[in-house]
Amino acid sequence: MPGPDVIAIDGPAGSGKTTIARALADRLGLAYLDTGAMYRAVAFAALRAGIDLQDEVALARTARAMDLQLDRTSCVVDGVDATQAIRGPEVTSAVSVVAAVADVRIDLVGRQRNWVAERGGGVVEGRDIGSVVFPDALLKVYLTASPEERARRRAGETGGIDVEVVAADIRRRDAADSGRKVSPLVEADGSVILDTSDLTVDEVVEAIVALLP
Ligand code: DC
Repeated sequence: MPGPDVIAIDGPAGSGKTTIARALADRLGLAYLDTGAMYRAVAFAALRAGIDLQDEVALARTARAMDLQLDRTSCVVDGVDATQAIRGPEVTSAVSVVAAVADVRIDLVGRQRNWVAERGGGVVEGRDIGSVVFPDALLKVYLTASPEERARRRAGETGGIDVEVVAADIRRRDAADSGRKVSPLVEADGSVILDTSDLTVDEVVEAIVALLP
């Protein structure tokens, strides 16, 4: 049986994943799924419920019980609009802890596979998409960029926060995402590594399109 028509876009924070994955989905007329937003949604639900972030059982229960309506422009968690809040500082600092919980990942990976099954494919962005969620993806891309460039991009997105502060946060999240026991950020077998530091969005998108089988 052929694998699903998934294009997996993985890579660290600030590598350009979201911008590239969205542009690629538009270019190819495919649906787009931001799995980072799903981990952020669980962090949002947990913070809202006042759950102790050390309580893995409660975090997993929160993930399983969460009603999530996620699309390109909005994120609604248990009926509450969380579109802005999932990008805010509280969620951003809690999300690495939430994403390290194995049972949270099991729940969200199941949702990601259902999302693809319902659509027959799409562009899926995250950290473990090519390595764990869709190892049979049609194409696996691992985006990187220099730490300086990644910090510059994130500082620009977050409205002029000091680049050094952003760089420190990126280093902390890289270490947490790469060092965790379950599904660490790795370059998946068979993935194509693309350094986006000196490329425009269009150049990266065209490079990916050219790689499609
Ligand atoms: O891409 P992002 O910054 O929105 O991701 C938020 C967090 O979720 C980040 O700490 C990494 C984690 N994540 C993950 O562990 N697995 C994914 N597939 C996507 C994101």
